[in-house]
Amino acid sequence: MPSFISSSLFVSLYLITFASAATYTDPSQLPSKSYDYIIVGAGTAGNVIANRLTENPQSQVLVIEAGAARDGNPYLDMPLLAPELSPNTSYTWNYTTVPQPGLNSREIPYPRGRLVGGTSSINWLFWTRGSSDDFNRYASVTGDPGWSWLGLMPYMYKNEKLTPPADGHDTTGQINPALHGKNGPLDISVYGYARELDDKVMQTTKELSSEFPYNSDTNSGNPLGVGYLQSSIGGGTRSSSASAYLEPVLTRTNLDVLLQTTVTKVYQTGNNGDTPIFRGVQFAQSSSGPSYALNATKEVILSAGSINTPQILMLSGIGDANALQSLGIKPVLDLPDVGRNLSDHPLLSNIFAVNSNNTFDVIFEDSTVANADAAQWAENKTGLFVDALANQLGWFRLPKTSPIFQQAEDPTAGSKSPHYEIIIIDGWASIADPHPGTGHWMTLVTNLISPTSRGSVTLASTDPFASPVIDPGLLNSDFDIYTMKEAIKAAQRFSNGSAFNGFVESPFPPLANATDDASLEQYAREHTTTVWHPTGTTAMSACDADYGVVDPDLNVKGTMGLRIVDAGIFPYIPGAHPQAPLYMMAERAADLIKAGTQSCYWYDRLFWWLPHW
Ligand SMILES: Cc1cc2nc3c(=O)[nH]c(=O)nc-3n(C[C@H](O)[C@H](O)[C@H](O)COP(=O)(O)OP(=O)(O)OC[C@H]3O[C@@H](n4cnc5c(N)ncnc54)[C@H](O)[C@@H]3O)c2cc1C
Ligand SMILES: *[C@@H]1O[C@H](CO)[C@@H](O)[C@H](O)[C@H]1NC(C)=O
Ligand SMILES: *[C@@H]1O[C@H](CO)[C@@H](O)[C@H](O)[C@H]1NC(C)=O
Ligand SMILES: *[C@@H]1O[C@H](CO)[C@@H](O)[C@H](O)[C@H]1NC(C)=O
Ligand SMILES: *[C@@H]1O[C@H](CO)[C@@H](O)[C@H](O)[C@H]1NC(C)=O
Ligand SMILES: *[C@@H]1O[C@H](CO)[C@@H](O)[C@H](O)[C@H]1NC(C)=O
Ligand SMILES: *[C@@H]1O[C@H](CO)[C@@H](O)[C@H](O)[C@H]1NC(C)=O
Ligand SMILES: *[C@@H]1O[C@H](CO)[C@@H](O)[C@H](O)[C@H]1NC(C)=O
Ligand SMILES: *[C@@H]1O[C@H](CO)[C@@H](O)[C@H](O)[C@H]1NC(C)=O
Repeated sequence: MPSFISSSLFVSLYLITFASAATYTDPSQLPSKSYDYIIVGAGTAGNVIANRLTENPQSQVLVIEAGAARDGNPYLDMPLLAPELSPNTSYTWNYTTVPQPGLNSREIPYPRGRLVGGTSSINWLFWTRGSSDDFNRYASVTGDPGWSWLGLMPYMYKNEKLTPPADGHDTTGQINPALHGKNGPLDISVYGYARELDDKVMQTTKELSSEFPYNSDTNSGNPLGVGYLQSSIGGGTRSSSASAYLEPVLTRTNLDVLLQTTVTKVYQTGNNGDTPIFRGVQFAQSSSGPSYALNATKEVILSAGSINTPQILMLSGIGDANALQSLGIKPVLDLPDVGRNLSDHPLLSNIFAVNSNNTFDVIFEDSTVANADAAQWAENKTGLFVDALANQLGWFRLPKTSPIFQQAEDPTAGSKSPHYEIIIIDGWASIADPHPGTGHWMTLVTNLISPTSRGSVTLASTDPFASPVIDPGLLNSDFDIYTMKEAIKAAQRFSNGSAFNGFVESPFPPLANATDDASLEQYAREHTTTVWHPTGTTAMSACDADYGVVDPDLNVKGTMGLRIVDAGIFPYIPGAHPQAPLYMMAERAADLIKAGTQSCYWYDRLFWWLPHW
């Protein structure tokens, strides 16, 4: 971890929050009782399921998590320092992509959270729901109106707790409280530390209002335009599925959590008619150590994330039968789409030198300033460290007349869904290029939101402790590179607003060189990375679809007793940073599991009786 701040400064202020009789770190110590539900992964979605299922005191629930408990390191709680938590820390799976042809063959770090809370414990806290069109498309491709914007609305409210910003400022006009939950577990808020960019951004939304209009709440179902960022922060501190959903209910006696234990496969425990039932879970703490097994009496829920859930399925013989056979794994269920259709958002940091001494770059230059800001955060959760990287962001569509639409269909779900995003950051924020150590900067991050490229997760080996092969296919299509170039040009137009006169000095050299189409493309391919939103690897599809991995009730197709609830299930990548869509979908999934909903099973039976119904 880059240590521009000495973490030992505050560690002593913290108590370890995660200590309870309900948690185990040794599988052999588990009580010998039977569990109704076994949840694989105490991550973003898994903890929502664990919390909701244990609301019923009759339901016995076990959660198995590969990572450890949160350890009281304040970095986990300080929003501005979120980027320090990955890649390659004690809190991550240290994955790397295969060389990306669209990125001049570069390999990109591909961390996922590996601790209680999963990736919600290390992510960058952006809270963005996406457009109503995105969800309405999920409803139409799955045939389940429950996944529509209106169908999910009760779950958006159920999940959220809108909290005042850390500085207590008046947020009128920055967020519409009527659109947000007030009593849910997860804290959300707008910025709690004003920055010099705020006025410049607002002035630009007025001056260049046709391209960059102001949107007073980009989470209304229509995200288009520029608005204040909402984030999963309350009182200046990260709110995650660990802090909001799991840790508060560890006192429930019907919940057990097994940590530092990796699920290696799921297995068949019986049949219902001709449908195989998968309620068995195998787990271990290392490849050489002992292996354990447990059967759930009701269901197994895979919430290991969009990389590891397909890995577990394939290790279990569920996947493309031919591919599994060639690895020496006996196919149990031929489901070719497991691990396919990986869809991610490419990210590019466009950096400008600015004439200012107030950007957050000061903390990289002056440890006295950094420590003072950190001490202030520790004292009363105010100051520079209370916020995610940005105070504002915007979502945009390509013009209808864009020439690319003569060769490519519009991949978005509808006219409210963006093609690209611009994040406005008061400092240097780049994964591709390390901080130069001096200088003051503004970063306009451009993210490609509606990629047409698709990648995959496959197995490298039959060892459950080996990394899978990850290919997000970044910038692999003509549409994707076109749209990224248009996004860069839009960022250049934004930075050219008169509010930035005398403030923006010059683009950081690689961007300055990107002056024509060829150099823009070269710049994009050389500097793009990812915002780490892999989705779609266990995609949901309609009961009778001949593709996809889970049905609209999130059962693995052709099985009973086995569901998936994590970011793999999105049939299309949401036009948003995916945690908010995932939390609301996990809240609904918990209700489906509680009710034991099996619509496709009954649909099949009905179809058999009434073939022309
Ligand atoms: C660096 C980074 C920044 C991001 N920033 C944002 C952001 O600002 N806003 C946003 O909306 N999204 C962001 N995302 C994406 C978002 O956080 C994820 O899409 C989301 O959290 C994924 O949730 P999940 O439930 O699918 O998986 P996870 O939260 O990753 O949970 C999976 C859990 O399963 C565990 N696990 C995996 N394999 C096994 C196994 N075999 N046995 C037992 N346990 C296992 C993992 O350790 C983990 O705890 C970011 C992602 C990254 C990596
Ligand atoms: C992170 O660790 C992986 C696996 O050990 C390694 O391949 C990669 O180079 C490391 N990445 C960084 C950015 O240190
Ligand atoms: C990732 O790398 C960090 C730093 O080297 C290490 O502490 C951690 O154990 C690694 N994670 C895994 C899953 O190997
Ligand atoms: C799980 O179920 C299978 C099939 O019914 C059975 O053979 C096995 O013994 C069970 N395992 C455990 C740990 O109960
Ligand atoms: C990928 O997704 C598309 C759209 O949902 C679907 O038509 C296609 O069959 C999927 N392909 C794979 C390999 O899953
Ligand atoms: C930043 O600080 C330097 C050194 O103190 C000073 O010369 C410069 O004028 C300051 N710039 C601004 C924009 O305040
Ligand atoms: C928080 O603490 C800082 C000093 O560390 C102080 O300047 C500030 O006024 C305090 N804010 C509140 C709201 O108490
Ligand atoms: C920047 O603004 C100037 C003056 O308003 C204008 O002439 C120029 O075309 C703009 N450049 C871009 C890239 O928008
Ligand atoms: C920018 O272009 C010039 C002229 O082609 C070249 O010399 C320089 O190396 C380029 N700089 C960067 C950072 O790409």
